[in-house]
Amino acid sequence: MNFNPQIPEWGKEFTNNSQEELIKYHSWIKNTGIKSGLISPKSDQFIWDEFVIHSLYFYKIIFDLNLLNIDIYDLGTGGGIPGIPVGIVSNNTVNLIDIKQKRIFELERFLATHKHNNIKALKADAEIIIQKQENSIFLMRCYMPKNDLIKKLKKYMLNNKKNTFIVSSKANNADINVEAFHVKQEKFLINKDEYRFIDVITVK
Ligand SMILES: C[S@@+](CC[C@H](N)C(=O)[O-])C[C@H]1O[C@@H](n2cnc3c(N)ncnc32)[C@H](O)[C@@H]1O
Repeated sequence: MNFNPQIPEWGKEFTNNSQEELIKYHSWIKNTGIKSGLISPKSDQFIWDEFVIHSLYFYKIIFDLNLLNIDIYDLGTGGGIPGIPVGIVSNNTVNLIDIKQKRIFELERFLATHKHNNIKALKADAEIIIQKQENSIFLMRCYMPKNDLIKKLKKYMLNNKKNTFIVSSKANNADINVEAFHVKQEKFLINKDEYRFIDVITVK
């Protein structure tokens, strides 16, 4: 099957000038990313739909909430998913956070080559970053499930930091409100017929 770098209707508004850079990232992750173990081998189309397009929906949420000048932290970024596609389509500062130095080296090389000056890669423990930052946006894709995150926020009493958490989800759960947190689920298409879910958690 031919590779089709499609953009769903919901993404057209904010990807107009970025398609070329998104395709360059796709090309890097499918070559260097697989060779250096950032991701496991996958087809070109899978990488585009599940990694690039899925990542763009994290930005769609930021765009719709009008959180345009707020720093973003992509926790457990791995190969820069979702932080790199988000940084490509936005002007927000995006910090890619991973505990593994080798991943940070690979990401730094990519960012320097492609001059993505609003995106930075940092070796750090995500748990420390969550405790330190306020007025920030945290992205988590395949890093920590929503319920574990809420337990941690309660444990560290982080209900007054004005942060927004955007977390990938496997399940289709109805909207729930958990004590001091407001949780809203978004369902979206990554291609013609496959749906995915993302939870948005904000302090009430
Ligand atoms: C399953 S991968 C997900 C990668 C990427 N977000 C994605 O969706 O493909 C989880 C990543 O979290 C990183 N990680 C694990 N514990 C961490 C921690 N405490 N702080 C920062 N990164 C961590 C791992 O090194 C790994 O790259």
